[in-house]
Amino acid sequence: MPPTILLLSLLLTSAISAVAPPLRRGFYSKTCPEAEFIVRDVLKKAMAREIRSGASVMRLQFHDCLGCDGSLLLDDTPNMLGEKLALSNINSLRSYEVVDEIKEALEMACPGVVSCADILIMAARDAVVLSGGPNWEVKLGRQDSLTASQEASNDIMPSPRANATSLINLFNKFNLSVKDLVALSGSHSIGKARCFSIVFRLYNQSGSGRPDPTIEPRFREKLDKLCPQGGDEEVTGDLDATPKKFDNQYYKDLINGRGFLNSDQTLYTFKETRAYVKVFSDNEDEFFKAFVDGMIKLGDLQSGLPGEIRRDCRVVNSRAVEGLVWTKR
Ligand code: HEM
Ligand SMILES: *[C@@H]1O[C@H](CO)[C@@H](O)[C@H](O)[C@H]1NC(C)=O
Ligand SMILES: *[C@@H]1O[C@H](CO)[C@@H](O)[C@H](O)[C@H]1NC(C)=O
Ligand SMILES: *[C@@H]1O[C@H](CO)[C@@H](O)[C@H](O)[C@H]1NC(C)=O
Repeated sequence: MPPTILLLSLLLTSAISAVAPPLRRGFYSKTCPEAEFIVRDVLKKAMAREIRSGASVMRLQFHDCLGCDGSLLLDDTPNMLGEKLALSNINSLRSYEVVDEIKEALEMACPGVVSCADILIMAARDAVVLSGGPNWEVKLGRQDSLTASQEASNDIMPSPRANATSLINLFNKFNLSVKDLVALSGSHSIGKARCFSIVFRLYNQSGSGRPDPTIEPRFREKLDKLCPQGGDEEVTGDLDATPKKFDNQYYKDLINGRGFLNSDQTLYTFKETRAYVKVFSDNEDEFFKAFVDGMIKLGDLQSGLPGEIRRDCRVVNSRAVEGLVWTKR
């Protein structure tokens, strides 16, 4: 069959839709009224088993959301290199099994209704709430992608070595402001990172052969002990002083030279972002408000490609469409 006929027949015979409905609050209120309750309940149980799974699941929204289409969740297949092995994701993203558990519970309650892309959006919000942060209503109605792109992920996702200028430019490409950048980085109020992500700044910042001079000396001693040169880079450290609580401690740490990642500390050392670090450090409500605004904007980024409601977040519903390259509307 010529490709256009194939596409047409796929659109007619399956649940693939070419035009996604606009995102809105309460999208599942008729089709799956329990959806938001189920997501929070499963996540709560997962966090009771391992508190860090909240942070790990929340991070998945960021890594999925330069499209917000569940593409991150697809496993590799012989025809398609997925995003799980992309540079910023491999050996780093975790708690995919919590997403699977949420999906299973939703499929029991309302089969074929709730997208994996929406699960990430709900679960990210719930992780913040369950860690003591703000609550907000999420817009839903996303569709799951039919493909994934490791290459796009490698091109887009920022490095922990990045400085504020390059982060500003990156966020700007997605219409996210300087304020959004500083507020969303406050997600590092919870969770952990590997020595792998900081050894360069401890021992060879910008190829200088010396440590990053902006690290507060006592904190640097602590990091040197945690992450000795030539040591195990899979060892993890806390992203801020209160890694289980979603609060504005992260910004206080930055002001004291105690940021964990270079991309964190640079938000204070560079003048373009410093003012927001001060505001959020002084006023937790301002941080919470800006964070919620940023998460909503991040969740609004859409790929504009045809999608479906996956039954299993790790695989597309039909192998026939997997990896098909669709052109953007
Ligand atoms: C501003 C650019 C950002 C950079 C450069 C960055 C980079 C990183 C890195 C390198 C790690 C640790 C990875 C590892 O060592 O394995 C990390 C962890 C984390 N990131 Fe980001 N990130 C950024 C923005 C965000 C955003 C916008 C969010 C969420 C909305 C987020 C949420 C998280 C969370 C919650 C963790 C901890 C995860 C866990 O404990 O498993 N990050 N980030
Ligand atoms: C920030 O990072 C970019 C990209 O790595 C680099 O070109 C630039 O020189 C850096 N800016 C400063 C002031 O260090
Ligand atoms: C950013 O906003 C402009 C103007 O509203 C729009 O044309 C563009 O598609 C947006 N970019 C993204 C990545 O959403
Ligand atoms: C530090 O980084 C520079 C540039 O990346 C590299 O040439 C140099 O070999 C590194 N030094 C050490 C001690 O790793």
